[in-house]
Amino acid sequence: MFSSLISINDLSSEEIRKLLELAAEVKKRPQDFRNVLEGRMFGFIFEKPSTRTWVSFQAGIFSMGGGVIYLGPEDIKLGIREEVRDVARVLNRYLSGVIMRTFSHWTITEFRDYFEKPVINGLSDKEHPCQALADYMTLYEKVPAAQDPVLAFVGDGNNVLNSLMLVAAKLGAKIRYATPKKYQPDPKILKAAKDIAKKTGAVIEGFQDPAKAVAGADAIYTDVWVSMGEEAMRKKKLKDFSGMRVDKKLVQKAKPGVLIMHCLPAHRGEEITEDVIESKNSIVFDEAENRLHIQKAILLHLSNEGAIR
Ligand code: CP
Ligand code: NVA
Repeated sequence: MFSSLISINDLSSEEIRKLLELAAEVKKRPQDFRNVLEGRMFGFIFEKPSTRTWVSFQAGIFSMGGGVIYLGPEDIKLGIREEVRDVARVLNRYLSGVIMRTFSHWTITEFRDYFEKPVINGLSDKEHPCQALADYMTLYEKVPAAQDPVLAFVGDGNNVLNSLMLVAAKLGAKIRYATPKKYQPDPKILKAAKDIAKKTGAVIEGFQDPAKAVAGADAIYTDVWVSMGEEAMRKKKLKDFSGMRVDKKLVQKAKPGVLIMHCLPAHRGEEITEDVIESKNSIVFDEAENRLHIQKAILLHLSNEGAIR
């Protein structure tokens, strides 16, 4: 049983399948889950901006009867005004769980080590687990798992790709990625995903040529080339990623009707063109919607298991 969600590796294959099923139920019958979090307060410790993660978690918690306190970078100055472990032990006395968005993944694991209730990773430099779960929920809504969809990720080997690879590995799914040589996914996470894939039958393939990654794919996924916190590298990254853009020419190399995915926010004209993100096969807003349902499912699971107290 998972008591925090910091990495997709905290979840078993079975737990991922159950979360996807529970999220589908929540999506169909939100009224049935109205009072589950009554009297529970959650903290949002966010070192970076957010639209989807913040608002979908907050709306989800309110809709299930709970309350939230947003703590932005200027509020508690985590690790600057006070050590992470001290903040964790104090907030443990007030809150039933926290959702964290940090620069360093270490900050979240350190916090978890001193906080006795659930900690959920709302994005770190290493992973974006809630996003990847919502993405697979969306993909399976459009191409059922039984049809064995092939997901092709084109762009930066970043937090989003790391989590997508782990979900694919755990679900026995097929994922391909194309990244520039210098921007491969995290080697430890890639190895972990490949080790899991040996047991589940998942297929994880890496390329440098986007055309190879998208050939025969059911969905093409991309994310920004310049992630939050990388602004100083902007000029260099834009140069290093030339040829990695998801445009009409690349889309034509995939299956007819290939789905277009993006975690958003998007930088139109950089990693994706306006016509592709706005095309009729784009499911980017379905992915964004499913963030709400999957996050409610995560909280429900943790509540049912007694981890939220
Ligand atoms: N996709 C995503 O996490 O969006 P936000 O940065 O707006 O939360
Ligand atoms: N890779 C992006 C994802 C944003 C949701 C970032 O870390 O900024």
